Amino acid sequence: MLRRLHSEQPESFAFTPANQAWAEAQITKYPEGRQASAVIPLLWRAQEQEGWVTKPAIESIAEMLDMAYIRVLEVASFYFMFQLQPVGSVAHIQICGTLSCMICGAEDLMEVCKEKIAPTPHTLSADGKFSWEEVECLGACANAPMAQIGKDYYEDMTAEGFAQLLDDLAAGKVPAPGPMNGRFASEPLSGLTSLKEYDSGHTKYNASAQLATDIGDTVKRIDGTEVPLTTPWVGADGTVAGRSPGKAQPPKAPETPKPAAKQAEEAKKASKAPAKKAAKPAAKPAAAVAEVEEKAPETLGAARDGGADDLKKIKGVGPKLEETLNALGFYHYDQIAKWTEAEIAWVDNRLKFKGRIERDGWIDQARTLAEGGETAFSKKVDKGNVY
Ligand code: FES
Repeated sequence: MLRRLHSEQPESFAFTPANQAWAEAQITKYPEGRQASAVIPLLWRAQEQEGWVTKPAIESIAEMLDMAYIRVLEVASFYFMFQLQPVGSVAHIQICGTLSCMICGAEDLMEVCKEKIAPTPHTLSADGKFSWEEVECLGACANAPMAQIGKDYYEDMTAEGFAQLLDDLAAGKVPAPGPMNGRFASEPLSGLTSLKEYDSGHTKYNASAQLATDIGDTVKRIDGTEVPLTTPWVGADGTVAGRSPGKAQPPKAPETPKPAAKQAEEAKKASKAPAKKAAKPAAKPAAAVAEVEEKAPETLGAARDGGADDLKKIKGVGPKLEETLNALGFYHYDQIAKWTEAEIAWVDNRLKFKGRIERDGWIDQARTLAEGGETAFSKKVDKGNVY
């Protein structure tokens, strides 16, 4: 298969602050002069954040690792795990098409993909929510046919069950991963014939599915706040074992993350405690955004007297997108800061890459900039460090 960069690329790329801290921590794992060894983890994190590996991301990572752009492009285009074209805003579906899965019905699953997503792989569905591809054995052959959706495995699937699963994902739900025919793990469907005293440990799902359910990031885009940033190899004085003192600075840890289940539990408690400030609700899945009825925001015929704001200081807005926003009648941070959910849907429907407004947090960024503040990204733009 020919693997090339997609013909349409976003204007810019930047890691979220927490992902940036994580990326810098990865680089400190390697000896001086060997920072290029971090190329795969960094590309992978860029993909986890954006859904796919973009040209600006490759350029940005090349810069971070002091590598030639072509060397990073070679890695990204060699490994099939890197998606070089936009993927569904809700999920990218990977159907196993190797022997066991083929014998057990993988072709039926792919028919569902062709019907409900797109006739060809690596193509976005009409609503932009899904994409799919056939992949080689994913090592869950005893639970064939199966698919990897986001980070997790859905096993023992039927065409009908899979079609329903896609509908649930489109509606913003995330069905529990694991076997979908009632099996706990990969025991015989008719029941255990040996090791009958086996005790699952009283979890509802098998270990993998339980962990996936507890973490709850199956189709979530990773922003770096999900797991604690630990850098035990960096000493308290900022030195890394085997390196000259003062060379490495310990990366700044992002806010203490919590598993999704714990967050939900805490949010529930917070909502019951009137005296306390309610926990910030989790970001809505892209599917939910797309379903909001759109309403046209107030626009301007031209920039106000002082001239237009530099909208490129908002992460996700590059020169071309700024032109589009200006053409739509948006010139100032305060206009963007005021968008309601329905107005976001209106603007989103007029942009090439849907879901960016919420995913990149345009509203919060615009609010900060409108008040005269700075964001981590705007500081980078001011320093000329954005690609
Ligand atoms: S053949 Fe499908 S997981 Fe191995």
